[in-house]
Amino acid sequence: MLDIAFAKPALPKSGALVLPIAEGAALTGLAATLDAAMEGGLGRALEAAGFKGKKGQSATLWAPAGGITKLVALGLGETPDTEKLGGSLVPMISGEAAAMVAADGLTAEQAASLAMGAALRAYRFDRYRTMEKAEDKPKLAKLTIGAAEPAAAKAAFAPMKAVVEGVFLTRDLVSEPANILTPAEFADRLKGLEKLGLGIEVLGPKEMKKLGFGALLGVAQGSINEPRMVVMKWNGSGRKKMDKPLCFIGKGVTFDTGGISIKPAGGMEDMKWDMAGAGTVAGLMAALAGRKAKADIIGIVGLVENMPGHNAQRPGDVVTSASGQTIEVINTDAEGRLVLADVIHYAIQKFDPAFMVDLATLTGAIIVALGHEHAGLFANDEELAARIIAAGNAVGEAAWRMPLGDAYDKQIKSDIADMKNVGGGRAGGSITAACFIQRFVQGKPWAHLDIAGTAWSSKDSPTIPKGATAYGVRMLDRLVAEHYEG
Ligand code: BES
Ligand code: MN
Ligand code: ZN
Repeated sequence: MLDIAFAKPALPKSGALVLPIAEGAALTGLAATLDAAMEGGLGRALEAAGFKGKKGQSATLWAPAGGITKLVALGLGETPDTEKLGGSLVPMISGEAAAMVAADGLTAEQAASLAMGAALRAYRFDRYRTMEKAEDKPKLAKLTIGAAEPAAAKAAFAPMKAVVEGVFLTRDLVSEPANILTPAEFADRLKGLEKLGLGIEVLGPKEMKKLGFGALLGVAQGSINEPRMVVMKWNGSGRKKMDKPLCFIGKGVTFDTGGISIKPAGGMEDMKWDMAGAGTVAGLMAALAGRKAKADIIGIVGLVENMPGHNAQRPGDVVTSASGQTIEVINTDAEGRLVLADVIHYAIQKFDPAFMVDLATLTGAIIVALGHEHAGLFANDEELAARIIAAGNAVGEAAWRMPLGDAYDKQIKSDIADMKNVGGGRAGGSITAACFIQRFVQGKPWAHLDIAGTAWSSKDSPTIPKGATAYGVRMLDRLVAEHYEG
C-alpha cells in the first residue's frame, strides 16, 4: 500500500505539492504560504489558468518554488467529496516519488477520507510485469497529508486502512490467473489470515463428501484441481460462544469454462474472476478483523474449478445436495448456484446465523439487466435489503433490488428431480438463479448479491483502477459497522 503519513502542513523540500482549494476561496494556510514565497505568483498563475476551485477543476505548475517539482491545485467545489478527490489526485502526481497534500482546510475525518481515496486508487497488480521500464512505473511511494490535527486524522484513518487492506486482498485474489489461484492455493492464502486473529478451517473433498456435498462436488469433478471450502471465523463480540453470527458466503469458481456445456472462446479469460464472490468475502473478513469489528461473523467460501474433464458431470446428471434435495443439472455452466446450495446449507446447520448474505458472479443476465452500475440484490428480508442498499450507497457500491416469487420459481421444476439448475429459457435468468438459491435458505433471513456486472471494471474511476473492483467489501463492512456492532 501507498505509504501515508499525517503531519502538520509544511512546504515540502522536494516532490509534489497538492493544494485542494474551495470554490471562490482566497488562498489560505499552506497555499497562502506558498503564494507569499512566490511573491504572489501562485495567485497570478491560478488566475491565468482560469482556476476557480470548481469541483473537478485542476491546474498544474511545474517547479513553482524551492525544491517543489510539481504543484497541483484541485478544486473542491462547494461541498468537497474528499474520497474522490484523494483518488483523482493520484494519477496527477504518479511521476513524483513523494507528495504533500495541504489538507489544512479539512476536518480530521475529511483528511482521513482523502487518504483512503488516494490509497484505493494507488493500487496496482504488477506481479507478472517483469520487463516494465522504471520510467513507465508509477513512482509515488509516500504521501503526506498535511492536516490541522494530524493525530486525529491518523486515528480516523486507522479503521479505514484496515478496510483498504481488505479491498487489496480481494483485488489481488480476483486479479490472479487461474493457473496460479487454484482452489488449494486460494485456501492456502486464506490460511494466512490467521495472523489477523481469524480462525481458518479448510475442508477438502473427503470432508465435503462426508457432509453430502453432492452439488458442489459434481461441479468440481471435472477438474484435476481439488475443491476446497474455507470457513473464516471472527469472534469480535467478546462472548465465548458465538450466538447467531452474521454470515457471508462467496462463490469461488477459480475458473469457469462452463464445463461440458462449454462457453464460447471469446472473452472466456474473464472467467478467472468467477471467484470474485469468494474473494470479496475474504477481503471483507480481513477488513473486519483488521479493524477489530465488535461482532461475531462467519465467512465461508466454496472453491471449485469448472472444467470439462473426462470425469466431468454431464447435462442431465442428477446430484443430491447436502440438504437432501435433488437437482437435475441441465446446464453445467449454471454451476455457481450448485456450489452455493451446499455451502449455504452447511452455514445454516453449523452456525444458525442471524442472516446470510451471499455474493456471486452468478449470471450474465444481471449485466443485461443492470449493466455495470448496480449489482442485483435479491432478498427475503425487507430490513436486511434496505440496510444493504443504504450501506452500498454510502460507499459508492450501488445495488438494485430485484424480485423473487413463485411465478419465477416454478420455472426450475424438473420432471425427474426436485429441481433443475436452469429456468426454461433465457428470460429472467438472474431471477430464476436467485430462486434456485432461495430453495436452500430454509426461510432464514438472506440476501443474494449478483456481482457479475460489478466485480470487474474495464475503465478507471477515481478510487478504483480498472480491473478487480472488490465491489462489496466496503458495502458489507459498512453494513456491519452501522447495524451490528456494540
Ligand atoms: N460465471 C457465469 C456468469 C458470468 C457471466 C459472470 C459473465 C461474469 C460475466 C455463470 O456461471 C454462468 O455461466 N451463468 C450462465 C447461466 C446460464 C447457463 C443459465 C449465464 O449467465 O450464461
Ligand atoms: Mn458458469
Ligand atoms: Zn460461473
